[in-house]
Amino acid sequence: MIRVKEVWKSYNEKKVLKGLNLEIREGETLVILGRSGCGKSVLLRLMMGIEEVDQGSIEIDNVSRQEMGMLFQASALFDSMTVGENTAFYLHHHNRLKKSEKEARVKKALHMVGLEGTEELMPSDLSGGMRKRAALARLIVYHPKILFYDEPTTGLDPITAMHINDLIIQTQKELHATSIVVTHDLCSAFKVADRIALNHEGQILYIVTKEEFIKIEDPIVQTFLKNSIPEIGV
Ligand SMILES: Nc1ncnc2c1ncn2[C@@H]1O[C@H](COP(=O)(O)OP(=O)(O)O)[C@@H](O)[C@H]1O
Ligand SMILES: [Mg+2]
Repeated sequence: MIRVKEVWKSYNEKKVLKGLNLEIREGETLVILGRSGCGKSVLLRLMMGIEEVDQGSIEIDNVSRQEMGMLFQASALFDSMTVGENTAFYLHHHNRLKKSEKEARVKKALHMVGLEGTEELMPSDLSGGMRKRAALARLIVYHPKILFYDEPTTGLDPITAMHINDLIIQTQKELHATSIVVTHDLCSAFKVADRIALNHEGQILYIVTKEEFIKIEDPIVQTFLKNSIPEIGV
């Protein structure tokens, strides 16, 4: 349902995406792996429609821009708003909802991420992991059909990271959404993925199930796996 066809994207003469092709199925959780700087965040921004491709096309069936949401790498809560106001932020686009319905949705979303009762707190009262979860609540509160996660576990301690992985899976089940997770955290990738795509130098080199991924004998994949293992502490 998302088709990325021969997409090229450069910044200041530097070619980042080089004729990238990718097909994402409705309802799957696709993890995109790749070295830092290979264009993972750029690809997400292009799919979200925040930026335009130089060449090629991105087709998305049956989903409008308002029905897509992204968990950005920096959680980016609004510091002057309470957690409750932050969580309700995107719901204001849904004017048809009554105030009581909005409040109920906010409450449910905060409950889902384990932050029930924090509506009146300010972002500065929260730990890093709690801010990430609040940002996720703000996203799931409006029931997006496509969820993009940019490095959702980077910089978090292992226990919080595990909690975020569980939330990604749980959100997927509750919303029946399509999820695209960009990460270089292999542990997280193998936990949440249905399929794994490897971005190597601006192209998708492989897109396979996680079971198939670890069996690939290509030295590029082997090197990638080997270099990524220290990050999971093995
Ligand atoms: N807005 C921008 N202006 C200039 N260069 C950019 C911009 N966004 C990304 N880049 C460059 O594109 C490359 C890929 O970036 P990015 O997608 O953020 O990598 P990553 O795979 O680590 O997420 C990097 O070399 C980065 O410097
Ligand atoms: Mg990035």
